[in-house]
Amino acid sequence: MKLGVCWYPEQHAESRWPNDVRRMADAGLELVRLGEFAWGALERSPGVFDLDWLARAIDTAAGAGLRVVLGTPTAAPPRWLVGAHPEVRLIDIDGTARSAGSRRYTCPTAAAYREASRAIVTTLVDRFGGHEALVAWQLDNEPGNHDSARCWCPACESTFRSWVQARYGSLARLNDAWGTAFWSGQYGSWEEVDLPRRSATVQSPSLLLAHRRFASHQVVAGLAEQRSIVAAGSPARDILVNLYWDDTFVDARDVHEAGGVAAVDAYPHGVDGPEAYAYLLDLARGSAGPSGRAWVMEQQPGPINWTAINPPVPPGQVRLWGWQAALHGVEASLFFSWRPSRSGQEQYHSGLLRHDDSADRGLLEVARLAGELRAVATFAPSILERPRARVAILHAYEDAWTIEIDPHQSGLTHRTLVQPVHAAVHRLGLDADVLGPRDDLTGYEVIVAPALHLMTPARVARIHEAMAAGALVILGPRSLVKDLDDCWLEEALPGGLAEHLGARVIEGLSQPLPVSVMPGGAPAGPWTDVLEISDPADPSIEVMARYGGSSYLDGAPAAVRRDRLAYVGFSSVEAWTDLLARLLGELGLPILPAQAGVERFSRGDRLITLDHTTLAVDGLDLPG
Ligand code: GAL
Repeated sequence: MKLGVCWYPEQHAESRWPNDVRRMADAGLELVRLGEFAWGALERSPGVFDLDWLARAIDTAAGAGLRVVLGTPTAAPPRWLVGAHPEVRLIDIDGTARSAGSRRYTCPTAAAYREASRAIVTTLVDRFGGHEALVAWQLDNEPGNHDSARCWCPACESTFRSWVQARYGSLARLNDAWGTAFWSGQYGSWEEVDLPRRSATVQSPSLLLAHRRFASHQVVAGLAEQRSIVAAGSPARDILVNLYWDDTFVDARDVHEAGGVAAVDAYPHGVDGPEAYAYLLDLARGSAGPSGRAWVMEQQPGPINWTAINPPVPPGQVRLWGWQAALHGVEASLFFSWRPSRSGQEQYHSGLLRHDDSADRGLLEVARLAGELRAVATFAPSILERPRARVAILHAYEDAWTIEIDPHQSGLTHRTLVQPVHAAVHRLGLDADVLGPRDDLTGYEVIVAPALHLMTPARVARIHEAMAAGALVILGPRSLVKDLDDCWLEEALPGGLAEHLGARVIEGLSQPLPVSVMPGGAPAGPWTDVLEISDPADPSIEVMARYGGSSYLDGAPAAVRRDRLAYVGFSSVEAWTDLLARLLGELGLPILPAQAGVERFSRGDRLITLDHTTLAVDGLDLPG
């Protein structure tokens, strides 16, 4: 894994640049990202470009031996764009137009924003596309973040209408697909298809889901325009899109379908703990498509400024986060940022330096990490070769959207249902790939779909194919319960597979009772599905677990298996861990349970452990 840093030369005197890049190189950093918020300094008025300072910054970095990642600056357009085209401002659901001076305040559909974006990207590509120090482009910055995919402006409304019309073809089909007879929501003309606005209570889930799809599609379309300019004018460079890791505003698999490298911005203090970090690193790799290539484009270097408390970062933590990314198969990790900003919105955000230019602890740990990574590359390269996982976990943005729209229990998200399964597999010392339902699933011995909510014939066919190829497919609670328009299926559940399973779900609870799972006695978790066996005398149907601890559910089937298909009705990490230990053990997977807070990685002939409780990294055994 290569290391790098995000650098903002436009915010500091040019006289400081040579010293900056020399110190970066001295610390063992190899990559520097720049430019992604510099539109205002690059195009001071419409069509008047000043690229010379950026050329000098790139040359200065190259002179110190650094390789450059250039950001397209479209996340923070200059004020003049709004002056000339007020309609580029994103309109929030309450009708407020976002104002300039911050970032992500423009509408992803606005023609003038798209045009100005193409112009600045073309200008940058023409000037720097062939620079020998340039190794990669970053398109935009965290597209979708700050809820910037959804916009309620007139252009979005009319484009949405056309998008809906193209998707459904006729009003009769639309009314049927969205079940608009509910609360008199029938559409009598296409003009009535408005964006979902506030009403007395929630809007139609079908409309909300369509809006999420449309919004993501608009962002992906804008990125595709940038991608084609960069690919044509700057060949042989990687193209990356960095998404904020826990966002679901944009479907990352659609973003990366065109190729390139998936990038994620990783601030572990912004999510809940090391298991969430582990999951999101694997999710990034899995959203890259067949290449499986992922970078951490921004890595937390110390305390951050945007959580409720912003706790300190203890000694050893930055190095440990770096090792965690490396062992999860990330190719490069860049720290955000070199120096904390003296002005602007992020003055409390740490960097690798302090404001006074002295080295902050992060820099010392990064230098140590860089040395260790070099030693590993020389003496034990297999440590950084992530083996092919035998377990795949399915994750899908459409399912995430539908669960966010109607979670059945406030606060539940797709992540809070999928991540426990990832954590359970990982607690057993195994790697897991986090893939989308359209990805190639060939070769996986176990495929777990913890919260695949939407049923389509294609998904059911893929599950059958995987079983026919010898995989064990395990479905989690609320699997295959709705159609693509977020309407409930009127058939035995899990949709399309109940007959094969020899059981159906008769109740889906949002854990109203203290229910446990037997054997083991683990809590059932926030979602609890109850199963009913079709024929209790059929020996091919195995009840793997039952509910206990509540007179209401006592003894009811909690997990059922028939042949290569299993259905698990519970959702807690403890109950998943108990069950997977049994199932994966029976299949002969090399289970190596770890204590709480410890991650284990079998790499080459070594066992590397990351102890998140003591921040120790063990098992590297490097000379010296
Ligand atoms: C990221 C963003 C960076 C910076 C950082 C602070 O989401 O891409 O520009 O704002 O957060 O943690």
